[in-house]
Amino acid sequence: MAQIELVGVEKSYGRPKRGQEARKAVSDLSYVIEDGHFVSLLGPSGCGKTTTLNMIAGLEDISGGEILIDGRRVDDLDPDKRDLAFVFQDYALYPHMSVYENIAFGLRMRHVAKDEIDRRVVDAAGRLDIGHVLDVKPKSLSGGQRQRVALARAIARRPAVFLFDEPLSNLDALLRDQTRSELKMLHRELNATSVYVTHDQEEAMTLSDRIAVMSRGRLEQYGSPYEVYHEPATEFVASFVGKPRMNLFSVQRLEAGRYVLPATTFSIDTGALDSESVRIGLRPEECDLRAPRAGEQPHGNVVAVEPLGNVSDVHVVVGDVDFLVRVPGFGTFAVGEPVVIDLHRARLHCFDPETGARLVVG
Ligand SMILES: Nc1ncnc2c1ncn2[C@@H]1O[C@H](COP(=O)(O)OP(=O)(O)O)[C@@H](O)[C@H]1O
Ligand SMILES: [Mg+2]
Repeated sequence: MAQIELVGVEKSYGRPKRGQEARKAVSDLSYVIEDGHFVSLLGPSGCGKTTTLNMIAGLEDISGGEILIDGRRVDDLDPDKRDLAFVFQDYALYPHMSVYENIAFGLRMRHVAKDEIDRRVVDAAGRLDIGHVLDVKPKSLSGGQRQRVALARAIARRPAVFLFDEPLSNLDALLRDQTRSELKMLHRELNATSVYVTHDQEEAMTLSDRIAVMSRGRLEQYGSPYEVYHEPATEFVASFVGKPRMNLFSVQRLEAGRYVLPATTFSIDTGALDSESVRIGLRPEECDLRAPRAGEQPHGNVVAVEPLGNVSDVHVVVGDVDFLVRVPGFGTFAVGEPVVIDLHRARLHCFDPETGARLVVG
């Protein structure tokens, strides 16, 4: 049982130069990870995910703010006093020990009784389907099995909190999907608070109760998968979450509430907005494509069609924007064909061109 709270947490590496502030790896992180929740820290490489996880773990000191677990300040406690188990990307197994010994090692260090260790190792190995390799050394295992040993070692600890740093990124695609599903089921069974670092929005979406989206050391949004997908707080979140990537482009005001993509016939009714220019976000799967009606001006022409089986991605050039629309099945669109993009106002995302903040319109 553990709730984790970050209050204005920040981290600077190295000493500041005279007259300058130290460069901050993360700053101003404040959010609550509820007991039993699975929370992903999501963002591009270098945005501060690992730094944040390491500060929760106690592997890095914090430079400012507070970290609390169940209301108690832990940021000056040693890692082994925080009741956490870490699963790293590179597994960090001891090569000279058997799988059994690798899983048991942390328990021995904590002087857990021998038969209790045995029960826990067998239970954890059984959950991860590695019960038949307990006697072998890690070097004779596949990457997927090594990752399972690392997971089993964490599970056998029965910690209050699991911390994962990109644990699936060394696995090949098929194994990654399979292990991801198993992690989700495992979390449902164990119900332990979990913090999971990933740069893969699909992993974050599929696994998480909440996602902390980060960019350049700052929190962009903390919300459920539904919220970060349907109500992205910033243009950054909009562009990072969702595949294929959201179409994002600037439009200019025609009249109050109506905007046009410059040098095109593509105009958009935004509702009650009246600034001169607005950033528009439109998901490829949330607009439609059709042939123009008699007398109707097309918005642009199809330049590429990418069939994926169940859907096809159709690229349409509108002005100087390469617009992507995802259509059902193999579609009926051919390269060169003039088309109209139909959009639903309710599916439109508007962002402030200066700050990137979401603009909520009526
Ligand atoms: N030990 C360190 N010393 C100096 N800078 C570091 C150190 N660790 C990380 N950083 C910097 O902090 C920033 C965040 O890094 P990190 O948390 O590893 O990002 P992520 O895990 O999101 O890829 C990066 O700019 C990185 O270069
Ligand atoms: Mg990292």
